Amino acid sequence: MTKKESILVTGGAGYIGSHTVLELAQQGYNPIVVDNLSNSSLESIRRIEELTDATIPFYELDVVHPESLHPIFYEQPIEGVIHFAAFKAVGESVEKPLAYYQNNLEGLFSLLQVMDQHDVSQFVFSSSCTVYGDAEVVPIPETAPVSAVNPYGQTKLMSEIILRDVAQSRSGWSITNLRYFNPVGAHPSGRIGEDPSGIPNNLMPYITQVAVGTRPFLRVFGDTYPTHDGTGVRDYIHVVDLAKGHVAALEYQKAKPGVHTFNLGTGKGSSVLDVVKAFERATGKSIPYEIVEARPGDVAEAYADTSKASTILHWSAEFGLDEMCRDAWNWQSKNPHGYEDARSV
Ligand code: UFG
Repeated sequence: MTKKESILVTGGAGYIGSHTVLELAQQGYNPIVVDNLSNSSLESIRRIEELTDATIPFYELDVVHPESLHPIFYEQPIEGVIHFAAFKAVGESVEKPLAYYQNNLEGLFSLLQVMDQHDVSQFVFSSSCTVYGDAEVVPIPETAPVSAVNPYGQTKLMSEIILRDVAQSRSGWSITNLRYFNPVGAHPSGRIGEDPSGIPNNLMPYITQVAVGTRPFLRVFGDTYPTHDGTGVRDYIHVVDLAKGHVAALEYQKAKPGVHTFNLGTGKGSSVLDVVKAFERATGKSIPYEIVEARPGDVAEAYADTSKASTILHWSAEFGLDEMCRDAWNWQSKNPHGYEDARSV
């Protein structure tokens, strides 16, 4: 396969980043990873190299420091950037708003500044459906009103606004905001996957930790939402589909300067209990659960209108909930302690 462009992937050792790096390498791109390893493991990059036979240049540094980014832009023929590196825990963002604003916005400023100086104009941004707040209409189209209900969401919203202004400041910038719904699952090889530190906040890693015996039972946050079974409804998307969405965006925006925004979801809503049942079906493991109080700040339901990505990017999710559960479990059962297992070998 002939080599395509070199793409800098910030946060490329993290969960979504690593799957995107793998996808880029498999599609003939030359991904270059920058990651400060604050919430990720270098082992993910080692395994991507093993899966692809590619050599992935890796720089351990923090994107908030433009002076450490400059040398990479001199050393590597970077033609585009996919920016994942950011803090992402909603609850933590409420406790540490300054850290979230500082890290997530300074990282963006620093990258854009360095890109501008090196005349690199292709940028794909890791945004979130959290920018829709408590949406009035589902499925949620990209044109829905935006609002953020926590500092993490604010940083995504502010970043989108900054990127809009940057795109308008000179012609040539091609910028895409990808608003993810709920990424879950893992690469079907079981070699890379989600490795949350501490107690998982999110549903799927919590379920897989119950299945592997690390946690005794799942707490289902609320069963009186106005949904088909009373539990919260979300649009879960396989992380490999999400990774492919990034490559589709990169290819689309090359010929389309300006700023673009796409939802990346499946368009299908699943409740917490739907996910529990699908997981039990796909893996044969039983997931004990208890219904507890609703989690403050959670919305009843959120799922994507995916028609824009399908029409314009020619991308749509291929995996269903059963495959998401199968692959999440494949990863967790092969790596009960995530990448930690590799370190102790
Ligand atoms: N849930 C449980 N028990 C758990 C964890 C989650 O019942 O232990 C429920 C939640 O109440 C919700 C659903 O499972 O109904 C999904 O929760 P997640 O925490 O997995 O995902 P969220 O939809 O809350 O959050 C995700 C991303 C955020 C993003 C947000 C936007 O993780 O980064 O979507 O809505 F901001």
